[in-house]
Amino acid sequence: MAQKRVLSGMRPTGRLHLGHLDGALANWLALSETHECYFFSADWHALTSEYADTASIHDNTREMIADWISVGLNPEKVTLFVQSDITQHAELYLILSMITPLPWALGCPTFKEQQEQIQDKDLNTLGFLGYPILQSADILLYRAHEVPVGQDQIPHIEITRDVARRFNNFFGDVLVIPKVKLTEVPKIPGTDGRKMSKSYGNTINLADTPKEVETKLRPMVTDPARKRRTDPGNPEICPVYTLWKAYETHENLEWVRTGCTTAGIGCIDCKMPLIKKINERLAPIQERRKEIDADPAKLDKVIADGNERARATAEATMADVRKAIKV
Ligand code: TRP
Ligand code: SF4
Repeated sequence: MAQKRVLSGMRPTGRLHLGHLDGALANWLALSETHECYFFSADWHALTSEYADTASIHDNTREMIADWISVGLNPEKVTLFVQSDITQHAELYLILSMITPLPWALGCPTFKEQQEQIQDKDLNTLGFLGYPILQSADILLYRAHEVPVGQDQIPHIEITRDVARRFNNFFGDVLVIPKVKLTEVPKIPGTDGRKMSKSYGNTINLADTPKEVETKLRPMVTDPARKRRTDPGNPEICPVYTLWKAYETHENLEWVRTGCTTAGIGCIDCKMPLIKKINERLAPIQERRKEIDADPAKLDKVIADGNERARATAEATMADVRKAIKV
């Protein structure tokens, strides 16, 4: 039986962190066992907000794909590629933009939200308005059945489905209508207790050395009511405990809960085994990453091979699209 096809992308923002590992990447790894997978660096999407300073986008793509491989994605099994290397994305984007009613783009909730939230960049551009349509092209080009994404991306998949239906209504059954595959993301808090995110500066990176992990986690925010060593704490409101739950087994969680609520352990006692656990988790990833970095030509080859496979799929869809629109 043919496997269902999934496609997903990430904007190249630089080296990845634990939030990526336990969110999107864990999910991608699991999918790679059961689905035909296409994963790509959405570097043109990065351009929608980073157009004024593009210096790091290219390197970030390489770093990100190297990190993907280091966590265990097997480039022989999954197709890893770079959006800007497959010009068919731009071609389909252009064609889809012709049939997309302006209110669909203007009404996309992420458009207004991001414009309000991001104050240090001018996102009042045609390209930024087109963000979800470019994403639609990414997905429809590969005739993906399912798109694994987080909650925040749902409006973009909805637009993709609407645009694909509209295209098929005009031109016949050419595009596959994709479904969202919602990624269950265990909440990974950053060192300040907020969601782990590069923009908050609270991340534990895949590249962090054991020393760096310790330096970041020792002062991590805990139950704010636990001021003194003798104060009992409440793990349920402590971000360190949230991390524990993501990384530890049942019995050890019991040790934390009892120790914390009876003031039997201090916060540093609680953090040290967690630090060890995280470092153990990162060690094999960093080991593989070292091997990847030792042979840059091999990474070039992996990306070139992925691009080649992606291009063949994308071009097959475009041939049908061009034929259907008769232009
Ligand atoms: N917009 C997505 C994000 O920010 C990245 C992305 C671009 C994407 N194209 C895609 C995700 C296609 C899934 C499918 O996370
Ligand atoms: Fe949090 Fe652990 Fe301190 Fe309790 S002992 S407040 S769970 S860090």
